[in-house]
Amino acid sequence: MAFIEKENKDLRSYRNGRIFTASARAAMTFILQAHKRMDPRGILLPAYIGLSKIEGSGVFDPIRTSAIDYAFYPVDERLRPDLDALEAQLRSGAFQLVFLIHYFGVPQVDVEQFVALCHRYRVKVIEDCAHTLLGGLEGRRLGSYGDYAIFSIHKSTATPDGGFFLDHGGVLDVTSLPPAMRISPATLAEFSDTDLEASARRRLSNYEVVQQWVASLPQLTPMFDRIPAGAVPLNFPVIVSQGKREQLYFNLIGREILPTALYHTLIPEISAQQFPHSHFVCTNILNLPTHADINQTHLAAYEETLRGAIHEVFTT
Ligand SMILES: Cc1ncc(COP(=O)(O)O)c(C=O)c1O
Repeated sequence: MAFIEKENKDLRSYRNGRIFTASARAAMTFILQAHKRMDPRGILLPAYIGLSKIEGSGVFDPIRTSAIDYAFYPVDERLRPDLDALEAQLRSGAFQLVFLIHYFGVPQVDVEQFVALCHRYRVKVIEDCAHTLLGGLEGRRLGSYGDYAIFSIHKSTATPDGGFFLDHGGVLDVTSLPPAMRISPATLAEFSDTDLEASARRRLSNYEVVQQWVASLPQLTPMFDRIPAGAVPLNFPVIVSQGKREQLYFNLIGREILPTALYHTLIPEISAQQFPHSHFVCTNILNLPTHADINQTHLAAYEETLRGAIHEVFTT
């Protein structure tokens, strides 16, 4: 006979499995250090990793800290992984892990196919979802395909730090997470109190508005022709034509619109000779803000300012 408790006491099947950390890079460092202890082989990284004077390198700092061996797999001018090159590297048997970055919170590749390829060579996949907090809004979410996924809280909420990771195989001993790598109570409280779905919806709707503007601006080419249903991009990435990225970036800042350029500088380990596509993107990319603080009242002035900046930069 079924035994029915007064209240639920388990709920394991309803948990998200999030292991909270001080940042996405702390999560990655923890995963890499644990794997390095289990297996001497290295990790394959996409050849598009940035560096900033203030923030360091969110992706490469954990590689340095854990001192794990690494190599890069090439990406094209839309940051799509070169799967043939990747397979040749997998075949070498020198790697235990592959890092897959969902740049701007949108997959550049068929994720299922990518993970299946790596698993065929018994190599585990870490999905980097630092640019998308929920992994999307509907359907199968990013971060659910690989063996691990890392997320960054502060990029999508108003917190100064915070991250979490998923360990789908339950491989790691999370009780050994060092105190310095743990999330702060203040960040966790802010995260819990933020309506993530509503803010993601706003972000997505801002993306769609900017997409309409950009469609009539031949000087800008969107990074994505279209985004999959349910994806929530971090911002609106474009390629600026005629080598005018720098000028447009500063012109917009002068007009009080603060874009980013993800990434304006690549780590020196990714050379222009070996990875020309990566350098093309880094030299020409501009990321227009679409975050959830931008609301209906800002949009008309935002559009006018953007058009004004483009007119000035491209006619001088
Ligand atoms: C793709 C990517 N992964 C990971 C990180 C690290 O995120 P966090 O600042 O939470 O450590 C960043 C940002 O620096 C990033 O852009």
